[in-house]
Amino acid sequence: MILERSNFMNVKQIEEQLTQSNLQNRIPDIKELINIYQLSHSAANEIGTKLENLDDEYSTDYDHNPIHHMEERLKSANSLFGKLKRKGLALTTENVRDHIFDIAGIRVVTNYIDDIYTVEKALSEQSDVTVLKRKDYIENPKESGYRSLHLVVSVPVFQSKGVFDVPVEIQFRTIGMDMWASLEHQLSYKTDADPKKVQQHSANLKHYAKELNDIEIRMQAIFRDLQAK
Ligand code: GTP
Ligand code: MG
Repeated sequence: MILERSNFMNVKQIEEQLTQSNLQNRIPDIKELINIYQLSHSAANEIGTKLENLDDEYSTDYDHNPIHHMEERLKSANSLFGKLKRKGLALTTENVRDHIFDIAGIRVVTNYIDDIYTVEKALSEQSDVTVLKRKDYIENPKESGYRSLHLVVSVPVFQSKGVFDVPVEIQFRTIGMDMWASLEHQLSYKTDADPKKVQQHSANLKHYAKELNDIEIRMQAIFRDLQAK
């Protein structure tokens, strides 16, 4: 299993982003904001390690890795401020702390649908993990056809200053759901394309989401059968 950290900006890079975008003049307590990023970075590492350990355990016990790979990211400063703006909130660190729970994000890509719920359960049951929010877009797909399980959990981070509970957003999805979401995401950025064509592609993608789900359920059944003792 690979934990990709390529998109995972370090806190220094975030600091540079804030400086370059001139936004630092608009935030009264930039040091505090950088500390929030630092905490989020550590929280993502904590959750990433927990997930790796669970994957290792399943691999030993069942000869099966539920997690295919994971990706971690820190929300860029610009998209953080864009989100506050969309929510009609001022650029203050209080608002970031109280309303933004996805500065740290981990995408967990699994082999099968069962793997999502197995890993979710094992993680949620850990005594230092608290589930703050849960949205199951596999049970209830979005209008676009998007499927994934979204969790926001909090985990304690131990710093020299003390211990802080920090939120991390986790998106669980299968390889199939991930492939679908990447293409659909690409389509949503094609703002200069012929609207008719985009509409047709969207309609097709919605249809394919359903087909992929049907295939994944059938492949899951084969896998369950092979695992049965
Ligand atoms: P915010 O996190 O505040 O935006 O709202 P929310 O928590 O309600 O967000 P939501 O649960 O819709 O999930 C947001 C994230 O899920 C996005 O950043 C995407 O990564 C992913 N996502 C949600 N809907 C779609 C979709 O229709 N297509 C694709 N490709 N990704 C989606
Ligand atoms: Mg979100």
